[in-house]
Amino acid sequence: MHDFKLKNNTLYCEQVPLERIAAAVGTPVFVYSRKTLLDHLRKLQRAFAPVDALICYSMKANSNLSICRLLTQAGAGVDIVSGGELYRAKKAGVPGEKIVYASVGKTMEEIEEALAAGIAFFNVESKPELELIDAVAGRLKKCPAAAIRVNPDVDAHTHHYITTAKKQNKFGIDFDAAEEIFLRTAPRLRHVRLCGIHVHIGSQIEHVTPFVEALKKTAAFIARLNGRGAAITHLNIGGGLGIIYHREKPQTADAYARVILPILRKTGLRIIMEPGRFIAGNAGVLLTKVLYVKDTAAKRFVIVDAAMNDLIRPSFYGAYHDLVVMPAARGGRRRAADVVGPVCESGDFLAKDRLLPAGVRQGNVIAVLSAGAYGFSMSSNYNSRRRAAEVLVSGDRYRVIRKRETYQDLVRNDVIGES
Ligand code: LLP
Repeated sequence: MHDFKLKNNTLYCEQVPLERIAAAVGTPVFVYSRKTLLDHLRKLQRAFAPVDALICYSMKANSNLSICRLLTQAGAGVDIVSGGELYRAKKAGVPGEKIVYASVGKTMEEIEEALAAGIAFFNVESKPELELIDAVAGRLKKCPAAAIRVNPDVDAHTHHYITTAKKQNKFGIDFDAAEEIFLRTAPRLRHVRLCGIHVHIGSQIEHVTPFVEALKKTAAFIARLNGRGAAITHLNIGGGLGIIYHREKPQTADAYARVILPILRKTGLRIIMEPGRFIAGNAGVLLTKVLYVKDTAAKRFVIVDAAMNDLIRPSFYGAYHDLVVMPAARGGRRRAADVVGPVCESGDFLAKDRLLPAGVRQGNVIAVLSAGAYGFSMSSNYNSRRRAAEVLVSGDRYRVIRKRETYQDLVRNDVIGES
């Protein structure tokens, strides 16, 4: 559930009409609902209270400092994937002991920074990475905890770009190689405590079956390892819960917990999880304004001021995002249109062949729904477009939580040399 609702032909975020924000802050702008973000986190906290899970919000979904701080203050930790996300996490006030760090390519500098921050877990994705962490930890006189990210070779039945646990994917380590690391490599490491298993099988997963398959395989692996003298204390089950963009019927937090809690309980381990999209996805929209309606012999194009650089999901994954044109008169004639941005690529679209009110016209504001996760965080400056502003709504108030970029921001790091 989320707090974007139609009232009197306009879409509201909590008690604020979105057209008001568009007029005051300008477009394109991302708008997030504080209540929805917290509701989604609480749903997971409640569902996983029986195992006292540490919920590490996956910052890559939306790493705005205000959002990270909001979720941290509500008890979440964070899952990071880069030195940049670590920097943001610290700025947002996330304590080191609530930070877990996954990435197939952590640099030495990033490892040093994470050690200095005293993070809870390195989720390790290869043997040379584990050896490097050990060496750096020795040099810095630290003794970090690490988990091996296993690759259980499970098909998550999601878009192939966000499937991560097939053996063809770059992520994680297969069970045999992981066993070798636990039993042969770990005992000779002097500075890393290898005491966790991490498993993340993909994103936007709608059904619980692949999660169960992966967790059962992983639990059996853990039992085998512990039987051979490993001392595993933590299991990180990753993120991946799907949300409703269109007609999906994903599992709820409760349904997910009901099925996997028995498997988790049986392991007797401390549980960590890393939800991103489930918390932020439906908690945000992208507002854009109609610049022109262009009717050609072939089709209608509704040209808006947001583009693939603002929300790349439709272009990149063929993702579907619902649109609400405001003012949003119910009923009435509809006509198919491509909703496209100003970027110079035919792949620049927010929707294809979408039925919109036939009377859509210049100046209308369109809300692109479910844009809270992997929206702003994947945005870019392509075509020298300034990245959008971000706004957080709370009840009948709102505030800008990231200013729109300026032209000066665009050239700040460019250097004009002698030619
Ligand atoms: N943990 C790890 C190790 C991950 O790689 C990810 C996401 C998550 C947790 C959070 O997954 P979530 O709960 O959000 O599904 N840009 C794509 C999604 C990429 C997901 C990458 N990893 C999209 O827009 O659909």
